[in-house]
Amino acid sequence: MMHSKTVLVTGGAGYIGSHTVVELINAGYNPIILDDFRNSKSWIIDRIAQITKVTPTCHQVDCQDEGAVMEVVKNYPNAIGLIHFAADKAVGESIQKPVQYYQNNIGSLCVILKAMKSFGIKHLVFSSSCTVYGEADTAVVTEESPVKAATSPYGDTKITCEKIIRYNSNAHDNFGATLLRYFNPIGAHPSGLIGELPQGVPNNLMPYITQTAKGIREKLTVFGSDYNTPDGTNIRDYIHVMDLAKAHVKALQFLNNTACKESVTINLGTGKGTSVLEIINAFENVNQLKLNYEIGPRRVGDVEQIYANSERAKKLLGWTCEYSLNEALKHSWEWEKGIDN
Ligand code: UFG
Repeated sequence: MMHSKTVLVTGGAGYIGSHTVVELINAGYNPIILDDFRNSKSWIIDRIAQITKVTPTCHQVDCQDEGAVMEVVKNYPNAIGLIHFAADKAVGESIQKPVQYYQNNIGSLCVILKAMKSFGIKHLVFSSSCTVYGEADTAVVTEESPVKAATSPYGDTKITCEKIIRYNSNAHDNFGATLLRYFNPIGAHPSGLIGELPQGVPNNLMPYITQTAKGIREKLTVFGSDYNTPDGTNIRDYIHVMDLAKAHVKALQFLNNTACKESVTINLGTGKGTSVLEIINAFENVNQLKLNYEIGPRRVGDVEQIYANSERAKKLLGWTCEYSLNEALKHSWEWEKGIDN
């Protein structure tokens, strides 16, 4: 039987992808995963099945491989949309491997867009990042805040992919997209069964904190305490990955319900800024433990403070965050405790 609400999800075994697949299943969709597991694990699919009691179909495919992607997508001409997560995402690594980042992030988007056109899939939900705002003129940014020149190949691929998608909707009548600019995703599924799986030494704050709490890392270094913020440390907008996942379902529904034929940019954040020291203190309090940390020098390329104005997401998607920061910090720790690193 052909399912009526099939959605293709590239990178569906990854961190944000897997949580979104869970929320898609919960909302009655039939997600079809395309993932080559380069930065994820195939057992995540089993965990999704454990949570939802549904085993999503999964095709092991590299999204840069046009022939392979076409072979998969041709089986789903009735798909109501495609959510494109599959991409490289580490700022530091992108500086070391610029060609890989441009080739993978831009190459796979182009393959996906071609496949969508070939098989009549009209709606794309794209993973962008608040990195496009760079060092913004104000701490709080709206979608109208200027996009600044990128300071890393990773950031530049997100800016470029957004442009490609906008040009694509200008060029074709039957194509609409949401460009979702994520702030800082943290947390894990409340069951503790899926979460973030960083490879090697984590670059991001949250997995570094949980690995330090677990004893895998000796201590966390706070990258600078001399910023022009109340406690001197950087401010970010930390959003629970389950809230982020739900926003993808809403974005898809928005595209379908409005028969959207343009590219709409949407910030996904809580609207609240939190400093690195506030995160550390809250993590210690909510999980009743002490974290070994020290203040170190600034990290090159870090912006001082940024958080989202999330009014557009509320207005267009009817979406607001449901989880608190404390819940996110609790879920991150529960997930970390349950995995073998
Ligand atoms: N931090 C530390 N110590 C660490 C790791 C991080 O103090 O060991 C601090 C950072 O300096 C920053 C905050 O924690 O102030 C958050 O850092 P992350 O690396 O977790 O996240 P970023 O805000 O730097 O990066 C995020 C996304 C990127 C995106 C970038 C844009 O992960 O994809 O925002 O600025 F490009």
